[in-house]
Amino acid sequence: MPENNIVLEKEFEKRLIQQEKIEPRDWMPEKYRNQLIRLISQHAHSEIIGMLPEGNWITRAPSLRRKIALLAKVQDEAGHGLYLYCAAETLGTTREEMFDQLHEGKAKYSSIFNYPTLTWADIGMIGWLVDGAAIINQTTMARCSYGPYSRSLLRICKEENFHKIQGMEIVGVLCSGTKEQREMAQESFNRWWWPTLMMFGPHDSNSPNSGELLKWKIKMKSNDELRQRFIDITVEQAKVFGLEIPDPNLNYNQKTGKWDTGEINWEEFYNVINGNGLCNKERLGARKNAHFGNSWVRDAATTYENKKNNLKAA
Ligand code: 3HC
Repeated sequence: MPENNIVLEKEFEKRLIQQEKIEPRDWMPEKYRNQLIRLISQHAHSEIIGMLPEGNWITRAPSLRRKIALLAKVQDEAGHGLYLYCAAETLGTTREEMFDQLHEGKAKYSSIFNYPTLTWADIGMIGWLVDGAAIINQTTMARCSYGPYSRSLLRICKEENFHKIQGMEIVGVLCSGTKEQREMAQESFNRWWWPTLMMFGPHDSNSPNSGELLKWKIKMKSNDELRQRFIDITVEQAKVFGLEIPDPNLNYNQKTGKWDTGEINWEEFYNVINGNGLCNKERLGARKNAHFGNSWVRDAATTYENKKNNLKAA
């Protein structure tokens, strides 16, 4: 490494220790920049792919009130995608590059969105569990070292809180409803519990990126720490709903004061993140149709902008 870079890196690390935010024009190690581009763009892709499983239920929401809330939630996810793509662009990548990587299957998005939404209860579970897991992950990362990501997460988390409450309300209504409604909620919970635990990523010992991300204060807590926090909160909430956790090995550990669980099916996890989950092909297909089928909208918008700028310049 050139001597100048060693000095700059020392200065950079000092700033991290002092909990200063790193801003786009500041010097940063190339690996820090690349890790951020990878992580923020994956997060952005998760937001926009995440619109698809819920979007399926907008036309089938059981009442006007539910439809309005779901529409607003799905629109929020699009907004989150936009903040995040903008945050990633401050690091020197472009929207086109990020979309190309998603469409070519080179960039990942959250495993959770490769599962189908089969019943209305799934919409409740996504709000309660999936948004609940995202909040736990993202409220800690909102304190991360990169300014634009940290600021976008602050705003995203405020909206995710509303999403979680709307999901919990749906689950609460079903769980205090008829026998059929309670069964529908339990059946849905059984399908979403394990995939939600997978959202936090592999165990720390199998997480190749965690070392660097923790060192650079991009991640503030490890995958396992966040997963455990989610489990401890959610087991108690499930009890209130009267739902049974689909894990025969779930056990309250008196020594640690935490809930121990059985092992996650890691084969399923790696299958899903490598493109072979239940809905990977459907999700990517829908995403590409939306992007390429509606390219005329982008063309119209950029032509209008270019014309306006040319007129200003003339
Ligand atoms: N889904 C898909 N891929 C995953 C994954 C998951 N649940 N968990 C891990 N992976 C991938 C990683 O991306 C990495 O692949 P890569 O090196 O090819 O990019 C590989 O598995 C190894 O995992 P690591 O633990 O080393 O990866 P990270 O250190 O990056 O940790 C993470 C993974 C915890 C997901 C982290 O990237 C993270 O916290 N990201 C920011 C938050 C985010 O992306 N959330 C998406 C949730 S959904 C959402 O927010 C939408 C909302 O509306 C609910």
